[in-house]
Amino acid sequence: MNTRLLATIQRALVRTGVELMPFIPLPAEWYRKLLVRDSEKRYATGRWEYFRDITESYRYSIIRGCCEYYKPGSPTILDVGCGEGVLQERCSYSRYVGIDMNSTAIGRAKAREDSKTEFILSSARDYTPKDVVFDVIVFNESLYYIQNPIDVLQQYRSYLASEGIVIVCMFQTYLARRIWKELHRIGLTELSYVKIVNEPGFAAIVRVYGESRPPPG
Ligand SMILES: C[S@@+](CC[C@H](N)C(=O)[O-])C[C@H]1O[C@@H](n2cnc3c(N)ncnc32)[C@H](O)[C@@H]1O
Repeated sequence: MNTRLLATIQRALVRTGVELMPFIPLPAEWYRKLLVRDSEKRYATGRWEYFRDITESYRYSIIRGCCEYYKPGSPTILDVGCGEGVLQERCSYSRYVGIDMNSTAIGRAKAREDSKTEFILSSARDYTPKDVVFDVIVFNESLYYIQNPIDVLQQYRSYLASEGIVIVCMFQTYLARRIWKELHRIGLTELSYVKIVNEPGFAAIVRVYGESRPPPG
């Protein structure tokens, strides 16, 4: 069999697998732990470097575009599970706070701190902002890493400025599908929806939410 045909078959198999992934029921907590373990290993071995590649670049561009569209000018941004802060490098803001529980990621990001930019080592659950609310709160590829993601997102709604927005981006997996369903039930208004499919066939979905009623608490 020639190599081009082999590559075509391989690509077709990967695409089919990727398409089916969101429908393969996996125990949520088991899957989440697997993701967290993988993430820790990637930071330890530098294997998150591809976040700056073109295949990942689109989601940052879309999120940046959503910030510019819904909150033009210089919004205040909270980036939950910010990693090394790739999003921060691309956005305009008057204040940016990135939090992540991984010390390697935050250690690298801290090199870019200035009077408007802060990176904090904290788990999402433990972070409470000091005297500040945010125009934009972003969970970019981080919500399904967090235990009890809906409870945590509810907690963050109280850190939102009036008319603030929440941006969630997740790759399509079974866990993500479950989280999207739950997110539809907590009284947020979906303002926009974008699906990005990259070359290997992985689909990332970005949704922007606004408050349709006062946040709880
Ligand atoms: C796939 S990476 C995404 C990083 C970043 N948002 C980006 O897109 O460049 C997921 C990140 O979530 C962080 N994370 C996972 N669970 C977390 C938690 N409970 N609290 C804070 N950060 C968490 C990980 O350490 C990791 O940096």
